[in-house]
Amino acid sequence: MDVLVTGAGGFVGGHVVKALIAAGHHPRALLRPSSDGSALEQAGIEVRRGDLLDETSLHRAARGADGLVHCAARLGAWSRQDEMQRRINVEGTAAILRVALQRKIARVVHVSSVVAVGLRREPVPLTEEEPWMGRAAPRINYVLTKFEAEQRVKVALAAGLAATIVNPAAMVGPHAYGPSKGGMVAAAREGRLKRLHPGGSSFAHVADVATGCVQALERGRVGERYLLGGENVTWLEVCRRAARQAGAPEPRGTWPLLAGRGLALAAGLLDAVHLSRPPWAPERYRMWGWYTFADSSKAVAELGYAPRDLDAALADSGA
Ligand SMILES: NC(=O)c1ccc[n+]([C@@H]2O[C@H](COP(=O)([O-])OP(=O)(O)OC[C@H]3O[C@@H](n4cnc5c(N)ncnc54)[C@H](OP(=O)(O)O)[C@@H]3O)[C@@H](O)[C@H]2O)c1
Repeated sequence: MDVLVTGAGGFVGGHVVKALIAAGHHPRALLRPSSDGSALEQAGIEVRRGDLLDETSLHRAARGADGLVHCAARLGAWSRQDEMQRRINVEGTAAILRVALQRKIARVVHVSSVVAVGLRREPVPLTEEEPWMGRAAPRINYVLTKFEAEQRVKVALAAGLAATIVNPAAMVGPHAYGPSKGGMVAAAREGRLKRLHPGGSSFAHVADVATGCVQALERGRVGERYLLGGENVTWLEVCRRAARQAGAPEPRGTWPLLAGRGLALAAGLLDAVHLSRPPWAPERYRMWGWYTFADSSKAVAELGYAPRDLDAALADSGA
């Protein structure tokens, strides 16, 4: 299948490109005109230029494709980017789906997130059937836009698009075609984390999730969503394991939830006078105490999804 991959220059998209090649497909990498595509081009991948905010460019990029994996999104949490994040994640998704419909692309996978399924205060795994939490959802624009993007997929489904949704949980692993970002696992491996925020997630290796995306393209049921998670652990536990593997000092414990509430309030006041900045934006503290544990058994049974265990995933996450 000739498959257009949006966000191919990113963490997940790069691995989706690799997984498509491994499965015998022909990926075309959609990159913004301003993005560096040299690593993909050197690997022999066809790069097409386009922007989710420019529908005409998407039409050009989608020429000849019979599959689409839509990974592109604006991540992060900070009120100053809320408007642009909504335009990219919600309106941009609607635009690429319209293009897929008009160009009669036969199979589409929309890469959503576990947060579009829900978040819980208890460490209980979510399933695909979880009813959306509505006003109880944390006030984090990224979370809301990922949920709203799925509603746009439902509109496209009603119009006849053969789309499947995948909901990855948190991911670890290297970047496929560029330098790895580091992040929390790298900080833990270097012994730089003393305490973690309360809460937890499901953690999978990014390459396993990418393979899950390709499996969804090949045999996912139209109109269904599939959680793609791994091991369900607290943020403290994942960082302890990463530190232990690297022989670094392990984080000692978690901050109290109440401290997060206070910090969210203080950061919210700064935000109101336009003085907040990532990583000190209030959204970061609003995430404290939430769990996005995931039950991936539907993807395992129907797609053949096979996430490796967390220690193996962490061992491949670099320093
Ligand atoms: N990372 C995680 O742990 C995680 C967990 C669950 C779900 N997800 C989902 O997985 C998907 C991929 O995430 P990621 O971690 O790979 O993020 P990422 O590394 O930031 O990649 C996002 C990609 O989207 C592209 N993009 C952003 N705005 C665009 C626009 N207007 N037009 C075209 N492309 C645009 C970016 O291009 P540039 O390089 O030009 O900026 C980038 O390549 C997202 O849908 C995300 O919500 C991620």
